Amino acid sequence: MKKVSDILPYFLNELSDLYPENELKSIMYISINSHLGLTKSGTILQSERILEDEEISVFINVVNRLQNMEPIQYILSETKFFGLSFHTKKGILIPRPETEELVDWIIKDNKNSEKRYLDIGTGSGCIIISLAKNLKGIFDAIDVSEKSIRIADKNSIKNKVNINMKQTDILCSELEGGWDVIVSNPPYVLNSEKELMNKNILNWEPNLALFVEDDNPLLFYKEIAKKSSNVLRKNGLLYFEINENFGKEIINLLEVIGFVNIELKKDINGKDRMVKAMCK
Ligand SMILES: C[S@@+](CC[C@H](N)C(=O)[O-])C[C@H]1O[C@@H](n2cnc3c(N)ncnc32)[C@H](O)[C@@H]1O
Repeated sequence: MKKVSDILPYFLNELSDLYPENELKSIMYISINSHLGLTKSGTILQSERILEDEEISVFINVVNRLQNMEPIQYILSETKFFGLSFHTKKGILIPRPETEELVDWIIKDNKNSEKRYLDIGTGSGCIIISLAKNLKGIFDAIDVSEKSIRIADKNSIKNKVNINMKQTDILCSELEGGWDVIVSNPPYVLNSEKELMNKNILNWEPNLALFVEDDNPLLFYKEIAKKSSNVLRKNGLLYFEINENFGKEIINLLEVIGFVNIELKKDINGKDRMVKAMCK
């Protein structure tokens, strides 16, 4: 590898057994953008540019880590979500595109007034930070993981928003305060669904953020909905990201707790992915 145009053949040669070509090209362009600051067209325009020795080492390191199936977001310590940049590292869930759809729904619903928001299980802080960038109000977030709270805090500074972050286990603590909007994307993948998942999720992303026991799949939804019903203001809204297989059960659970105007929404792939409910 001597010049920019050698990077693609190097990636294809070393990694095409492990990744589909399209994904590989996209990972390569993200790496080039992150390390050389070049866009896709810039990469083509500067194809004859000679790489420095340090730049070559960086790409060798990226390829070695990709051979270990490490997600590119961890390798680059960064990812994009809702047009914003977020620091990521092992132990923190990588923000997903489905969650951008949930954020978009919340922003469209709540644009016109100043409200108080709470994000339960904030992870990288992607939901609450994107809301704070686009809405007016007070923004709070909790997570059981100390590492998440640290990274989410760092991300709020990176994105220049003010979020009150607190380490809290939602299963063991009562919520105190009054909120207009509560949102949560809690762990919802069944342990038995592990087998269907890619190695680069299973070996690298935190179990704590992803999995629930098969015999209690709605654990977080029950706890969060019950606790939220005590602290949401009149007509306050609760939003969930959900496991596509549990839409009906979650609607039922929300009705039993006393929520009204419950809406189930599909994601871009046509899967039941989001729920909204109003507190009477
Ligand atoms: C699916 S991840 C969502 C992360 C982030 N909100 C997002 O959408 O990318 C679930 C998050 O819930 C947190 N979590 C797991 N158990 C929890 C608990 N008992 N109390 C509070 N947060 C918890 C995990 O640490 C993780 O950050």
